[in-house]
Amino acid sequence: MRTHYCAEINEELIGQEVTVAGWVNSRRDHGGVIFIDLRDKDEVVQLVCDPADSEEAHRVADHVRDQYVLVATGTVRARGEGLENPNLKTGKVEIVVRDLQIENASKPMPFDLGDPKVNEEIRLKYRYLELRTQRMHEIFRLRSTASIAARNSLAEMGFMEVETPVLTKSTPEGARDYLVPSRVWPGEFYALPQSPQLFKQLLMVGGFDRYFQIAKCFRDEDLRADRQPEFTQIDVEMSFCDQDQVIEVAERLLRDIFVACGKFDKLPTRFERMSYDEAMEKYGSDKPDLRYDLAMVDVIDIFERCDNEIFSTIAKSPRKNRIKALKVPNGDNIFSKRQMKGFEAYVRKFGAQGLGYFQMKEEGLKGPLTKFFTDEDLKVIVERCELEVGDVVFFGAGEKKLVLDYMGRFRTYLAELMGIIPEDEYRFVWIVDFPMFEVEEGELKALHHPFTMPRLNEKGALDYDEVEDLKSLAYDIVLNGVELGGGSIRIHKPEIQEEVFRLLGIGAEEAREKFGFLLDALQYGAPPHGGFAIGLDRLVMLLAGTESIRDVIAFPKTQKAQCLLTHAPSEVDPEQLKELHIRLRQRPAAE
Ligand code: AMO
Repeated sequence: MRTHYCAEINEELIGQEVTVAGWVNSRRDHGGVIFIDLRDKDEVVQLVCDPADSEEAHRVADHVRDQYVLVATGTVRARGEGLENPNLKTGKVEIVVRDLQIENASKPMPFDLGDPKVNEEIRLKYRYLELRTQRMHEIFRLRSTASIAARNSLAEMGFMEVETPVLTKSTPEGARDYLVPSRVWPGEFYALPQSPQLFKQLLMVGGFDRYFQIAKCFRDEDLRADRQPEFTQIDVEMSFCDQDQVIEVAERLLRDIFVACGKFDKLPTRFERMSYDEAMEKYGSDKPDLRYDLAMVDVIDIFERCDNEIFSTIAKSPRKNRIKALKVPNGDNIFSKRQMKGFEAYVRKFGAQGLGYFQMKEEGLKGPLTKFFTDEDLKVIVERCELEVGDVVFFGAGEKKLVLDYMGRFRTYLAELMGIIPEDEYRFVWIVDFPMFEVEEGELKALHHPFTMPRLNEKGALDYDEVEDLKSLAYDIVLNGVELGGGSIRIHKPEIQEEVFRLLGIGAEEAREKFGFLLDALQYGAPPHGGFAIGLDRLVMLLAGTESIRDVIAFPKTQKAQCLLTHAPSEVDPEQLKELHIRLRQRPAAE
């Protein structure tokens, strides 16, 4: 219908007749002459409807309203002196309209499209209207560039794209499954994949050597700003490789995506690596944001010598407990008394018993806790924490996991409060040497998934004294405090897999029932293999600099896993349920 996109209308076309098509951004009636800003997929051009040029076009323009769909034909001319718009690519010209067609009218907009502060419920209900905005177009162009770059990069590295099933059997990624009832097999269910984990391993057994997929994954878990019930992974697996080689592929992939998205100047010369233990001990998180410092320091040995019984008792079990110091440079001058009180309330929300602190004054350390320490030990604290006059140092003490967690959260909270997080910086870090297991309510659980290769000793057996200390060949890539992706070298020998299941308390029968097909496959010459998956939505979110994952998914779900546009999930026809052999128990009352 058009001869040109709006963005192509420029001075070179002056004097030529063109046809453009799009939506009305705005319309202004200047006493006889009507100006229309017409917008298509990426730019706005000004239409001039002057009865002196075309009475008919002017008559039509009189009926035009915001967001009407128009096709306009006319001649390009230079804008008058002083009337140019430097904000538009087309700002030096305008189109004098000869023929104007209204292709479709539009009801008035239910909300102001240009206002990102409009309530999200309404924006999601009319998501197709929000998608019309320039901001959304930019985000989705970026997303498209990122996925195309990923495909190209992996293809260049010799990876082959293979699709794996969506109707499948449950995969143990740790979240709840979405289930799909089978019509043909009454009482039986498919699970939507939480990731293609088992299939990509089977593709390695199939000899494909290097596989990738941009895969939809489904997890029924509590949603957050960076979590959606269905999301997209760039999923990669390769054979006959070690951890460093997988990491090398992931780094090249990320570099290629960043370059394609115009962020080449933001790339690090090298991706840092940090052990899980170091990340937890220093930053209280396995996804530390390294754009700012505020690292924690261990002071448990000093507190063991203090006269306060609570602290010294905690300090007597240094394997089980932690006492951590968190220095805030110049904090004494930054924070008010009221804020300092608020900090304690903040950490209490995450289970802290309290929050001690010292202020570094000219005359030395000050604070309610100083009386419990000898002058000598106060000096050791000053040295260990590298304190200077004006600094504040906070202390968290108690059970290891709890202290690391709330102090880690407190670190992020302080950084946000102080506004010290650089916005336009990308800090990547690989977290390596993850523990194989974590203990949850007294039970051993796989920290990644049970197919992760544990660290082995020279004899090829699992390498541990205490099973909780067993490390795995797993790694996560973290960007600005967000877990962007993760992966591992997998177990390829049945006897190691069986040993891991045994430690996890998964009996032979249960293992056979859940993953029998994988265990079988491992017995037919499975090659050594490993891989990773990058969360595409999270990656685009960080590239676009948006706060919410919902911004980068065309039709996202709410925090309550609803689609406000289509009203999914919704009730279904009783006939459908019958076919699926499902009878509903009493429907729970709507909230
Ligand atoms: P993992 O479970 O760590 O690994 O997932 C990989 C990456 O996927 C993204 N991600 C999510 N993004 C949005 N919403 C969610 N609910 C969500 N859950 C995960 C994250 C995460 O880092 N099979 C393994 C990969 C492997 O071992 O190869 C896996 O799925 O960015």
